[in-house]
This record gives sequence, C-alpha cells and structure tokens, in this order.
Amino acid sequence: MFRVRENVMGIRPYKPGKPSDELRRELGLEGEIVKLASNENPLGPPPRVMQAIRAHVGEVHLYPDDSCYYLTRALAEHHGVDPSMIIVDRGSAGVIELAAKLLLDPGDEVVYSEKSFLMYPLMAQTFAAVHKNIPLRPDYLIDLDAMLGAITPKTKIIYLANPNNPTGTYNGAAALERFVGALPDHVVLALDEAYVLFADDLVEDYESGLKYLLAGRRNVFILRTFSKSHAMAGLRVGYGIGDPGLVGEMHKVRAPFNVVSLAQHAALAALDDKEFIERTLEVNREGMAKLVEGLRGLGFETVPSTTNFVLFPAGTAERAAFLADGLLKTGVIVRPMTAFGLPDHIRVTVGLDWQIDTFLEGLGAVLKTEKK
Ligand SMILES: Cc1ncc(COP(=O)(O)O)c(C=O)c1O
Repeated sequence: MFRVRENVMGIRPYKPGKPSDELRRELGLEGEIVKLASNENPLGPPPRVMQAIRAHVGEVHLYPDDSCYYLTRALAEHHGVDPSMIIVDRGSAGVIELAAKLLLDPGDEVVYSEKSFLMYPLMAQTFAAVHKNIPLRPDYLIDLDAMLGAITPKTKIIYLANPNNPTGTYNGAAALERFVGALPDHVVLALDEAYVLFADDLVEDYESGLKYLLAGRRNVFILRTFSKSHAMAGLRVGYGIGDPGLVGEMHKVRAPFNVVSLAQHAALAALDDKEFIERTLEVNREGMAKLVEGLRGLGFETVPSTTNFVLFPAGTAERAAFLADGLLKTGVIVRPMTAFGLPDHIRVTVGLDWQIDTFLEGLGAVLKTEKK
C-alpha cells in the first residue's frame, strides 16, 4: 500500500468558493447565478484578452514558450527591473508554492498571519515546516510587530498579504517601511500584492513593497497576479519579482512549460490595458461604496476594505452559516469564512451594480426568514 508523507496526512484541502455550475446542479436553479465568492473581476475578460486568445488558439498543439520570453520582458519593462528578476507561474498561488519549494527544509520556520490567505499554512504543512501563525490584531490588521518578534534563526519565509485576504485590510507605507527595515537578511519576505491596484486606488497611504527590492533589499520578493484587476483568474498567470539570485534558483524548481501559451499571450495583451484597468477600478470603487452602504442598511458593519471584496461579521457562526446558505438558495454565492478562522463572518466580492442589488435583496429576504 502507498504511504504518503506524514505531514501531508494532516492537511485540510483548500476549498475554493463554490462554482456557479455546482450550485446550479445542486439546487436545480435555472436563472443567473451571482457568484461573489472568489474576488473575481465582474467585468468579464478584457476584450484584448479575448482577441489574443482567438489569435493564438491555432497554436495549442505546440508546447508553450518555456521561458515566457516576451511576457517576462514586458513585465520587466512595466516594473522597471531586469528580466532576470521576474518569474512567471500559474497564478500567484504557483509562485507562493515555488518560494516554499525552493526555500523550505523540514523543520524550517514559516511566519504568517492567521486569517490570511490559506495557501501559506498549506505550504508550511506540505513542506513539513514549523508554523508560526501570528494572531490578527483586534482591528483586523496583520500584526507586523508580532511577526518580527516570531523570527528566529530558523525562519526562512514570511508570507505577508498586503492588502490581506480575507480581511481586506492593509498595513500602510510607514508600517511597511518599519517592518522591512527591521527584517533580518536570512528571511525572505514573500510580499503578496494580489490586490495592489485596488489598494492604490482606494487609499492614500498604501504603498507597494517593490521599492524596497529596487533599493537593494534582496530578501523582499513581490508577488503579483493577473487574476483580479486584469480579470484573468481562469488563465492562471501570476509572477514574482525578486533578487536575480533568488529568481534564478526558483527557475530550477518550477515545472517545465508552467504557463500555457494562451495565458502568456493573454497576459501580454492585458498588462498595459489602462482603459480596462481604469474601468475595473471605477466599478470597484462605486460598487464598494454601494455594497458597504447596503450592508449597513441591513444592520451589518463592514471591515474597511482596500480590495475588491468586503468582510463583515454576522454576529455568530450559526447566523453566518444561515445567511450564506439562505443566499445560496436565492442563487447568490458568497464565501463563508470558517476555513479562514472567521466562522462568524462572511466575505462578499464587489460585483456589478445589478449583482450587488441581487445580493442585498437576497440578504434582506433571508433576514426576514430569521427566527428572532
Ligand atoms: C492574497 C492572495 N494571494 C494570492 C491569491 C491567488 O491568486 P492567483 O493564484 O489566482 O494569482 C489570492 C486569491 O484569492 C489572494 O487573495
């Protein structure tokens, strides 16, 4: 009989937001499903991406460009770095995994915040590392001081999402500067900036950590994705920007042909599509205001968000489950937060105007069925 590694046996599998088709099958629903569970871009694919895919679909019998030559160069130019500082993989989830695969020996330590992106503990567990799981502050902010305090000579990676998922909160420029300044050289800071463009748009004092890498902090490794603001979640493109030495080693452990050709062409088309990104940010800004106000009208305070989703406490875990289940029956999928350690909270992606209306109406209807 096969025997898997012991540390893998304890892993709870990553459970994504419920796909629309699954809900349709389960409940026999026929109308439009409103999925606000996975922080996808509600505008749909950028027209330039569709065009790029159509133009290159006839090449899918060929292996993709293993080096992502053109995309890597375009990203390097976009960020003002050398191409040797870029590594592309299948989503930023892929890059999060590459960092762990490259750096972690069993028994090494990984520092991350609780109530953050679920890949981080998953990686620590997969590679038999020691978890240093830092409690979230009562104001829902990731506790950077406590993270620094948890570092030991055995610490290899700090995973930090800024802004954070699922809280939507961020640590501002000054806090990040102090944090990076205090970081010992032997620790790689995997700074996950999946929501960077939303944060840049929504608040003044958010700042990417890229400038620290550019200023010579070789242990700052930036993670970005095309899944959110560039509306390409289904194509799986993310990338890391880091020290050429680190990135060079990372290339050794990535899978060959790790980014499919249609995704490479699509990402090239999407990268500098300013019009689409501006529209995305505008829809998000307006949708966020409407969603927060609508939730307040129904009696829910929200956690201030600098992303494309909103987290709100529902009172109790039972009530959160009741509301999320009730919404499913109305064809609206939101994300219950039990797996994230927030069972009494619900996370909702900012959708289009009509999707927010459908969500709020659905929630209002479910609330009316609640036993007082
Ligand atoms: C903080 C954070 N990092 C990374 C990811 C992974 O995104 P992807 O693998 O699609 O790039 C997500 C997705 O929700 C996220 O919220």
